[in-house]
Amino acid sequence: EGELLANYQGIWFVADLLRATLTFQKHFKANDSDIFLATMAKSGTTWLKALAFSIVNRNNHSVDESPLLFSNPHYLVPFLEMHLYKDGNIPDIDAMPCPRILATHLPYQLLPSTILDCSNSRIIYLCRNPLDVFTSTRHFVLQNGFASRPSASLDVPFETFCQGIYPYGPFWDHCLGYWNASLKDPQKVLFLKYEDLKKDINSSVKKIADFLGYPLSAEEEEAGLVEEIATLCSFENLMNLNCNKEGEIQTVFRAKHNSFFRKGEVGDWVNLVPPSMANRLEKLMQEKFGESGLTLDIHGNSV
Ligand code: A3P
Repeated sequence: EGELLANYQGIWFVADLLRATLTFQKHFKANDSDIFLATMAKSGTTWLKALAFSIVNRNNHSVDESPLLFSNPHYLVPFLEMHLYKDGNIPDIDAMPCPRILATHLPYQLLPSTILDCSNSRIIYLCRNPLDVFTSTRHFVLQNGFASRPSASLDVPFETFCQGIYPYGPFWDHCLGYWNASLKDPQKVLFLKYEDLKKDINSSVKKIADFLGYPLSAEEEEAGLVEEIATLCSFENLMNLNCNKEGEIQTVFRAKHNSFFRKGEVGDWVNLVPPSMANRLEKLMQEKFGESGLTLDIHGNSV
């Protein structure tokens, strides 16, 4: 909505950024200790960044100071797509302490090959049901004024989303790319669902920690560290940090920090998407995911 997208190899890119994406893709060098957090936009990227950062760094910082240290996950876990940042604000990823944690919206098949060649680097993918992604995106676009002429009706944005025209979309292909990779190589790719994190964050914290090679010891679990990390990264906690209440991220998109924390729920689409559209998108999801084994819960605990 409001952005010019260009199709390259079946994937939709923000047209202005396509060349930079491809250049970067060629030149990026991964390390064996790198951790990549992959998502479709509005799938819980910020949440995953906070979780991974606080799990990996839990022994480097006391819990008292870590909210300050990772307080704005956008800075501490930069995007792999450096061209997203404005000149002068480009994080120096070569200077990041190891393990580097980097986020990306790139689809699996377009990840720089160096990531797949580094056998010890890890990828976590966080997926979210398309109805909530669509809803979250709509609010995000309106709140940040991304749409130059926002359409009053949902028809056009909805139709566009269904057709797969969405940054780094189609949505289905993005999810399926990582889903299939996680089935093929579960050591390399961990596939998570936003809805599962909402349902049981404590198990999810443990799962992420185990996968990344930073498992919580029995003593740590006994001391309540799992719950502590979950609370530190909770929607309420992140949203209420001063640095997330004001200011905006320094990327080519000017997005207000607080626009990354809206509701943080499963099933909030019911307040935006009429049932006829919801049915259509749900059917489309089932059709696209087909026999892959991938399913996404659109209701969570709300039903
Ligand atoms: P809603 O708009 O549905 O509230 P991203 O970080 O990929 O841009 O995704 C943003 C979405 O994740 C928003 O969804 C936001 O509220 C939600 N979110 C952010 N932090 C969260 C947290 N700690 N727990 C749950 N949801 C969170």
